[in-house]
Order: sequence, then C-alpha cells, then structure tokens
Amino acid sequence: MSIRRLPPELINRIAAGEVVERPASALKELVENALDAGASQVSIRLSAGGLERIEVADDGCGMSPDEMRLALERHATSKLPDDSIDRVTSFGFRGEALPSIASVSRLTIESRARGVDGWRLTIDHGEPAGEGPAALPPGTRISIEGLFEKVPARRKFLRSPRAEYAACLDSVKRLAMARSDVGFTLDHDGRRILTLQPAEPPARVAALLAHELDRHGVGIDCAREGLRLTGVISLPTFNRGIADQQYLFVNSRPVKDRVLVGALRAAYRDLIARDRHPIAALFLEVPLEEVDVNVHPAKTEVRFRDPAAVRGLIVGGLRRALDEESQRSAAREQAAAPVMWTSSATYDADLVRHSRESGHPAAFQESGTPAFAGVTVLEQATALFDSAPAARAEPAVDAVPSYPLGVARGQVAATYIVAEAEDGLVIVDQHAAHERLVLERMRAARADGAVGRQVLLIPDVVELDEPDCDRLEGAAAELSELGLDVERFGPTSILVRAIPAALGKTNVPGLVADLAAEIAELGGPLSLRDKLDHVAATIACHGSVRAGRVLSVAEMNALLREMEVTPRSGQCNHGRPTWVKLGHGEIEKLFGRK
Ligand SMILES: Nc1ncnc2c1ncn2[C@@H]1O[C@H](COP(=O)(O)OP(=O)(O)OP(=O)(O)O)[C@@H](O)[C@H]1O
Ligand SMILES: [Mg+2]
Repeated sequence: MSIRRLPPELINRIAAGEVVERPASALKELVENALDAGASQVSIRLSAGGLERIEVADDGCGMSPDEMRLALERHATSKLPDDSIDRVTSFGFRGEALPSIASVSRLTIESRARGVDGWRLTIDHGEPAGEGPAALPPGTRISIEGLFEKVPARRKFLRSPRAEYAACLDSVKRLAMARSDVGFTLDHDGRRILTLQPAEPPARVAALLAHELDRHGVGIDCAREGLRLTGVISLPTFNRGIADQQYLFVNSRPVKDRVLVGALRAAYRDLIARDRHPIAALFLEVPLEEVDVNVHPAKTEVRFRDPAAVRGLIVGGLRRALDEESQRSAAREQAAAPVMWTSSATYDADLVRHSRESGHPAAFQESGTPAFAGVTVLEQATALFDSAPAARAEPAVDAVPSYPLGVARGQVAATYIVAEAEDGLVIVDQHAAHERLVLERMRAARADGAVGRQVLLIPDVVELDEPDCDRLEGAAAELSELGLDVERFGPTSILVRAIPAALGKTNVPGLVADLAAEIAELGGPLSLRDKLDHVAATIACHGSVRAGRVLSVAEMNALLREMEVTPRSGQCNHGRPTWVKLGHGEIEKLFGRK
C-alpha cells in the first residue's frame, strides 16, 4: 500500500461532508459569513428547501476580486489576523466553508467592496467557470445551485424539500436570535416567510418563539463567577413532545452543546415528564478564555474549561426562576375551559401562605404525629379520625372551615377528591397530588440529612436480569442516601434490606425494577448523584396512592391538609396541575344565575 497526498480537490470534498451536510448547513455558513462581514441586513432566498438554490445577500464589507479568489482557497480566512485561535469572536475561523461548498455545487460570488466596482466569480464543482464585472450595491451576494447534485453518496442522505426547508428555517432562526441587531428577510419559493427588523434581543426572541411564551414564559437573568445567563424559558406546564424549540447560545454563537442541553434538562427534572421538553432561548456569556470553539467541524459545539460552573449557573438560575414563578398560571386548559377554573399551578404559593396564616396546619401535625408522607400518613390519619372505611360522601351541613383546599366531600371515579372550600369547589387528582407530597417529603428529609428508612423484617430478594443487578449494585451508595438499602445477592438477584420510610407499604420488586430501568436511562455523562432527585421521583411515584384506590374521608382530608403546607404541591412531578378550583361565582354562571 502506498501512501499518497490527496489532491486538494478531493480534500475539499471530504471536508465538505463535515462542514456542509445538507442545504441548511450551507445556508448557515453563508449567513455566518454575511454577519462576520458586518452586515446590517441579510436577505435569504431559497428554492425547494435549498436543494435547488440558496442565495444570501448582505450589505457588509464586500471583497475585492483578489479577495474573492482567495476566499475560495482552503484555509484562507480574514478572521484569525494574529494566528491565535483562543479568542475567536467571529462565527468563522477555519477558512473552510466556501471552498467546501464550491467543491460540491455551482457557487457564484458577486461582491463589491466600498469605493470599487463589483465583480462576479463562478466555481462549478471546484472548477473555475467564469468571472467578470457585476452590478450590485456594496456588499456580497452568494448563490449555491444544485448542492450535492454530482455527489450521489451525499445526495442520497438529503430529505424532501419540505424537510430541508424546515432545517433551513431553523438555521436562520438561530442566527437571527444570535444577532438581533441585524435585519433579516427569508423567502422560500417566492414567498416571504420572515421579515425581521433590527431589535433588542428579547423582542427578537419573542418574534421567533412560540407566541404563547409571553404568557407561559419566565425571563432569565443571572450571573456567577464571570458567567452571565439571560433569555427566556417556558413554564413546566407549557412543554413540547420534541426538543425542537431549544435555542442555546454561547457568546452569541448558536450551539447544540451537551453540557447546556443536560443542564436545561436537569433544571426541569421532576417538573416535567421525561418525554416532554421545555421551550428555551438561553444566552450564555463566558469569558473568551473559558471556552474553546474549535472542537466541531460545523462549529456547533464548544468545550468549557469549567463545565461544572456552567451547569451550576444554568440549573441554579433556571430552578430559582421556575420556583419563583410557580404560582403563575400555566394551565393551558384553563384558557380553553368553558369557565374559569383556578388551577393549582396558579396559586400554589398563596395557598401555602394562607394555610400558615390561618393557623390550620395539617391535622396530623397538630396531633404531634411525626409527619411522614406516603401511605403511612394516610394510614395514621385514618387511625386518628377513626372514620368509617371507604366513606364516599359527607353531607355538607357544617360550616366550612377556612381551609384553602376545603373539606373533602367525596371521591369521584376513585381518582379525584371533591372538596368544598369557602369560596368554591375543589377537585384534586389524588395520585398526582400525593406523588408530589411524597417527593417533597423525601427532598426535605434529604436536605436535613434525616432520611428515614424502614428496615424490612425479612429482606426482600428481587430477581432481575444481570445488567439491572449490576446497575443497582453500582448505585447502592446513592440509593442508600434516599433510604433504600440494596445488596447484590447472586448474579441475577438483589437483596433489599430497607426502603424509604416515606413509602409505607409498597411493592418492593416493582420499585426495584423501575429503579434499575431509571438508572439505565439516566446513565450518561453525569453521575447518578446529580440525578438523585430523578430517582427520588420514581420512588415517590411508587409510594403514592394510585388512581383507583378508594379513600376514606379522613384520608382525603389528611391529603388536602398536607398539600396546603407543602411547597410546590400544586404541580405533580410531571408538571401537570394537581388540583383545580371552581369559584362560587363560576358555578352560578354555569347555572345562569349570574
Ligand atoms: N459575505 C461575505 N462578505 C465579505 N467577505 C466574505 C463573505 N463571505 C466570505 N468572505 C471572506 O471569505 C473568507 C472565507 O470564507 P469562509 O466561510 O470559507 O471561511 P471563514 O468564514 O473564514 O471560516 P469558516 O470556514 O469557519 O466559516 C472569509 O474569511 C471572508 O474574508
Ligand atoms: Mg465562514
């Protein structure tokens, strides 16, 4: 085998696959170049999702004919004047984009620097295909035709014009958010899709994100150790089935960075179901020496010198903002409902405050019973009230004491508690509410370093497949922090010695199997310790009263009282409301009395 130097033409084609894999990536490179050239207006025109034609025109600095020729050579760039790649502030820095694109398409550059005449230059699949004078205003216009048309290996990975168009639109949105001071237009197949005037960043972001975010969004602005994070995120109840509306920027560069995506995910942990995704536009500003941009061929990833600090700022900042906003209305159903239901997401915090002020703490706390969450509490409450089991209703004869969530009057479909409050009718989703209470209890106990465990009289032996046993064994130390003591007991079994006190009676094999699956899924770059909250949520789910379980009136009241004193109890661990209230006025409206 003889080693040979590849001809530049072939090198360009190989590089092209990394730099431009589809129309959207070629478009991204052209728009980045326009922005780097100091454009104040960028006009984009696409045909057939960019498969036929992509054109980007700018009013930036333009190029002389010599510069145009140089721009098409590999590793020719104007953006690293001093040979240092540590402090890059431009989008480009490799001098790769134009030659790569020119080797796999027909590329025409027309450009005019200030004070000189315009020039046109065409390259057809890497070969010069003519040049001459061109009439155009100062700036640059670049068009790409037939991308990958003569490169079947790449062409077959391209998708339909619609799908390619969607990807192009996404690229444009990201860059338009990164540079709100620049005006943009986008036309597709002769139709005007976007017109964006120069604007402040929040206005630009608002123009490009789901407009519902003005009601369901939370503004972010926090800083720590030289890092600053700004932007907007959605309330947990306003989420999506795919993570397509997450726009992340580092020093104005759009990125798809694992550290950032992971931190965003972590901030919503236990507020949102695992298969749902928040909407976010987050701008991180980092000192240039703290971040390396030269780690990915498409410039979409970065490497942080201190990823833990970045993660800490994001998780902490978002979490704080979400907690502060947790009393705000986020229930979309609310707007859609025929009457105004007050959702629990609306005034969680008010509820807790009111309950404290009105001197009605949870009954079992008054009685001096230790406040365990879980079935235990309900069992204790049942004993305390000594009520008839499975009572289905209670006549509304007595004056209603002023509990914010009211007095239980009955249960519907063995799933919802109906309660009467002074100011209306309350419906509680018993499983969702209880799951939240158990989780908050476990959290509080962990924060106090006082996690209770119930030692099982006879340890439970649970059979699982070997990888699951390995996972549980590997996580034994972390699980123990949550009150769950497990030990390896042969190749395919696990011995459970103790379970969290918060759980009460529980199906131990089911819990352990779920945890093994959870750990498998969480397995990623971050340690399980970072994810203990997630694991706690799974445990909490097991300790919670199921939908379908008939509750006694005393049990229902105990649950309502505990909700009133538990922060964040208005939202279940998946971000849905746990209760709704129909005010007296609304009931009257329903019956036409008002
Ligand atoms: N729209 C434009 N206006 C003015 N100059 C441009 C424009 N597009 C490209 N150039 C010039 O051509 C050079 C090569 O562009 P190219 O995109 O290939 O590389 P780059 O932007 O330097 O680096 P990267 O490969 O990382 O994008 C740029 O450095 C710039 O000087
Ligand atoms: Mg470039």
